[in-house]
Amino acid sequence: MQWRKSTIEEKLKLNNIFHFEEIDSTNTKAKEQLNTTPLPFIISANKQTHGRGRLGNTWVSDADSIYITFTFDISLYELHFYPYLSALAVHRFLVQKYLRNVYVKWPNDLLVSSKKISGILIEVVDQAIIIGIGININQHSEYFEKSNINGTSFHIETGKFFDVNSLRKDFIVSFYDTFTEYLTKRSRIFSDWESKCVHLYQNIRCRVGDYIKHGLFLSLGEQGELLLKTEKGIEKIHAGEILE
Ligand code: BTN
Repeated sequence: MQWRKSTIEEKLKLNNIFHFEEIDSTNTKAKEQLNTTPLPFIISANKQTHGRGRLGNTWVSDADSIYITFTFDISLYELHFYPYLSALAVHRFLVQKYLRNVYVKWPNDLLVSSKKISGILIEVVDQAIIIGIGININQHSEYFEKSNINGTSFHIETGKFFDVNSLRKDFIVSFYDTFTEYLTKRSRIFSDWESKCVHLYQNIRCRVGDYIKHGLFLSLGEQGELLLKTEKGIEKIHAGEILE
């Protein structure tokens, strides 16, 4: 099935934005609002008290920054595209804002100069997809050091301070533009993501549940899984974390 432009425009309607100065988590709020608010909608906040990351991790969110969740309806068979499409949207935004050495790390972390500047947490409730994105803006390096996080921010990379509200608005437009652009070239989502991947064709260690797997990162599979060439053959990894 083809994504129609009108459908995606409806999906991402940009005027239904609920912004909070501080909130527990924009993803948690989006889930709560599913019962009362028609799709699509966006939840954003300047700070979060209980920011959540992938694999049960915490997303430290006590500095003014971009914390945003896009919520819209999807067909479940499209689900595997969204982590990569979302990462491509953040990648585009970072490059538009003149950051250099921007890469994606499987499945949807954004790295600048090998440090994490953005993370994406995707959740699904019934037919609704909840895409939560954190982007570090004005944090100092000590902010990450004290929490032992290998992180970076717009400020660390450029030496400048940024207006978070203005960047958030630009990001929403950039996110929308990326989704619209890929309407007509959905088959390129995985290959475009691969072209920006920091670990493609490299030997990696990947934590999968209680196991650490070693091998060569060959490519993404048809469902967006990581294809790892190991001593046992080619293994498909659907969820996990690449270790440094
Ligand atoms: C990760 O890298 O582990 C994913 C981090 C996702 C953080 C964002 S911030 C906005 C949204 N609300 C949350 O609680 N988490 C996501």
